[in-house]
Amino acid sequence: MTGPHLLTTEGLEREALESLLQDAAEFRDVLDRPIPKVPALRGKTVATMFFEPSTRTRMSFERAARALSADTMSFSPGTSSLSKGESLKDTALTIEAMGADLIVVRHKSTGAPWRVAEWASVPVVNGGDGAHQHPTQGLLDCLTLVQRFGALDGSRIAIVGDIRHSRVARSDIFAFATLGAEVTLVAPPTLLPNDVVGWPVTVSHDLDAVLTEVDAVYLLRVQSERGGTSLFPSVAEYRSRFGMTWDRFRAMKPDTVVLHPGPMIRGIEIDDAVADHPRCLVLDQVTNGVAVRMAVLFQLLGGERE
Ligand code: NCD
Repeated sequence: MTGPHLLTTEGLEREALESLLQDAAEFRDVLDRPIPKVPALRGKTVATMFFEPSTRTRMSFERAARALSADTMSFSPGTSSLSKGESLKDTALTIEAMGADLIVVRHKSTGAPWRVAEWASVPVVNGGDGAHQHPTQGLLDCLTLVQRFGALDGSRIAIVGDIRHSRVARSDIFAFATLGAEVTLVAPPTLLPNDVVGWPVTVSHDLDAVLTEVDAVYLLRVQSERGGTSLFPSVAEYRSRFGMTWDRFRAMKPDTVVLHPGPMIRGIEIDDAVADHPRCLVLDQVTNGVAVRMAVLFQLLGGERE
């Protein structure tokens, strides 16, 4: 890995990315063993510090830490001294003083994990900062597609939906492009960022035109908590123009796959029949998420190989 932290996929070298994916593939095999555990990080403690809700990401980091025999500590704002006014800095330093060897941070503000990385003397992993970055999601999506396609060079991927508010999109775009994929963003103009200058992408507003050309369609949830639903006339119209309906799924090439970071909102961006189809890789993404996070913890904490 380049650098002591993992904060973003932007600028992550291809070699560093591939080395993480290679370790993750080995850890995926560990997870398939009858006893899915290795002693690589025995004695280390991984702390999760999540200021925003999460189902998958926090559990996935904790599962990854334990599968490497590390201990875990977890901080939740609702039950903490944050409600008494404690600052992000003091919270981070307290967690480190308690013996954390690595801190995973999720926060609604862009840049919060970078601040924690300045204050703390241990490695920091960005578990999602606002609409900015979510690098382990980018890595797990790469692993899922590489396992399917062999390599991403020359493959065509559409990322569809609320790109404006999506840290997943921002992480995926750079990771996919670094591995040689051609990325097309598909969204109504209101759900795109103000400009995509410097992003390695093309942009379309017409899902039906893109659908039949691509090898993978990556669907995003409309982020109502960040104001996404107020940016189009109605959910019904969104679904009719940008939803992965069963009819659209059937119009795609027979080997095109569908991905989604979760949580899926069935009936808006994805129809039930698509969500439950074997070519929808969401659960594979979840399992790969554990393997990728094992690789990240292992590399940042300098674990021992078997
Ligand atoms: C995403 C997130 O929190 O950024 N979920 C995740 O980490 N798997 C996407 C979302 O909330 O829509």
